[in-house]
Amino acid sequence: MTKDPTHDTISSGHHVPYWLFSELVPLDFEQLRENLTTDVVIVGGGITGLSIAYQLLKTGKRVVVVEDGYIGSGESGRTSAHLTNALDDRYYILEKTFGKDHTKLIAQSHTEAIRFIEYTAKTENIECEFERVSGYLFLHPSDKEESILKEYEAAKNAGLDVKMHDQIPGMKQQQGPCIEFKNQGQFHPVKYLKGLCKAIREKGGQIYTLTHAQEITEKGIVTSEGFKIDAEQVVVASNAPVNSKYILPMKQFPFRTYVIGATIKKNELTKALWWDTGDHDANADIPPYHYVRIEELDGDYDLLLCGGEDHATGLADAENIPEESRYKLLESWAKAHFNIDEIIYRWSGQIMEPIDSLAYIGKSPMDKDNIYIATGDSGNGLTHGTIAGMLIADLINGTLNRYENIYSPSRITMQGIQSFLKEFVPGLISYIKHKPGSDELKVNDIAKNEGKVIEWKGKKCGIYRDPDDFLHIVDAECSHLKCIIKWNNDEKSWDCPCHGSRFTPEGKVMNGPANTDLPHHLEKLKFNL
Ligand SMILES: Cc1cc2nc3c(=O)[nH]c(=O)nc-3n(C[C@H](O)[C@H](O)[C@H](O)COP(=O)(O)OP(=O)(O)OC[C@H]3O[C@@H](n4cnc5c(N)ncnc54)[C@H](O)[C@@H]3O)c2cc1C
Ligand code: FES
Repeated sequence: MTKDPTHDTISSGHHVPYWLFSELVPLDFEQLRENLTTDVVIVGGGITGLSIAYQLLKTGKRVVVVEDGYIGSGESGRTSAHLTNALDDRYYILEKTFGKDHTKLIAQSHTEAIRFIEYTAKTENIECEFERVSGYLFLHPSDKEESILKEYEAAKNAGLDVKMHDQIPGMKQQQGPCIEFKNQGQFHPVKYLKGLCKAIREKGGQIYTLTHAQEITEKGIVTSEGFKIDAEQVVVASNAPVNSKYILPMKQFPFRTYVIGATIKKNELTKALWWDTGDHDANADIPPYHYVRIEELDGDYDLLLCGGEDHATGLADAENIPEESRYKLLESWAKAHFNIDEIIYRWSGQIMEPIDSLAYIGKSPMDKDNIYIATGDSGNGLTHGTIAGMLIADLINGTLNRYENIYSPSRITMQGIQSFLKEFVPGLISYIKHKPGSDELKVNDIAKNEGKVIEWKGKKCGIYRDPDDFLHIVDAECSHLKCIIKWNNDEKSWDCPCHGSRFTPEGKVMNGPANTDLPHHLEKLKFNL
């Protein structure tokens, strides 16, 4: 079950993001080959798992982290790394869902998370390019001016340092209005993770890579090689929690989001974060939006990172725009708004959208009291993961934390119920309409380096044809709850439209909630089958 140190363990997809390229990772440690006993075992070596480990070690706990790829091989290595309290879901919507006082706390928790990263980088001497920058939220052409005014008022009510502008600093089409969120941040996420790992090990923490937690119970974990870690407390920081088969998959929806990295002339743009308010013509609860930031590249160029063109995982075809065509859309949008030169990076990643806008951080619902999760991070997972670091450490230590109820994974809100009905039913219809796989397709219809779901020897299978004409045949039923997987030709993965599990072409699980590989076997392609 443990992944080989190849291809999809470096990152959960075929495209290697700038962050991993620039750091010449893999960032690896030993594989676990013995039984251990500890205070806390943490599953997942992304920003969430490592932030929790770091905080717990500072309070004297013994901690072991297990990661089944390498450090940062999940979404933390595929991010765009805006550190912001300008949340994906508007403050005027959060006010309606959570009330004014709690919305203030939500804003404070993200402000604290940025401060935590800044402070940790400083005190642990982590050279992760952390910088304070301004963030600009501007109107998408499909949105009404009134919504940005409402957001400005709500952000002010939440206690944020914001300012209205008529023009948008740094952009070609400068017509505003836009809100400036002051004192935001940006950093190099993989350099930060590397620094966290060093600090964790210096404080006595243990980190194991290529170590898959196959069984997770209140007693600890068992790896796929059969080694046990007995622990008092168990934290599942696997992005989509691999221990929650039914509850959390109903409380969040998986989306794919795309990033391009384009060169721009050095220092042409002052570093900042930009977002539009999203396409309100799209039939989505959270209108898909664009996000932009600048990263220093070399002596002549900076890199403009531009992201967006999201769609529900596995359902790109519902909009007739396949995964690999999304970069062209991003390029056109970026060209219309900034002076970009060459596109030198492209990648995509997955985000989990919670049904009521906020992450789920705390005790795992309907589980034993010593099992914790952190998930539902939406496009603010770096700050949500950092909040999890502080909050879960407090919960484990029995220290009061004012964010406990707000982020509780067991919470039920009216907004959540409405979003569930609005997203779940159309999602189900779309899945049925676009259910992957065709009975008419034959193996010879599959091009080299592509996959398709077809009927194979009386069974629905996912078949990937590799460059040497070997067929990698996997069960088409997802190992989570048996939805039919869909081939993602852009990231060369099998993606499940139901709850976002993802598998390599050979069926190895890359993303939860599934935690088990798809049965796989190999055959050589014979022509004219
Ligand atoms: C393109 C993109 C842009 C984004 N932009 C931003 C942004 O600008 N700002 C922001 O705040 N957020 C952003 N996000 C979201 C943010 O990057 C993520 O939410 C965050 O990195 C998630 O961190 P994590 O540690 O929870 O998950 P991950 O980084 O995915 O870590 C989970 C780890 O658990 C491991 N794992 C899973 N199952 C097991 C198992 N059974 N045993 C052992 N290990 C296991 C995985 O291999 C993985 O490495 C973006 C996301 C994407 C994809
Ligand atoms: S992710 Fe739930 S059925 Fe596939």
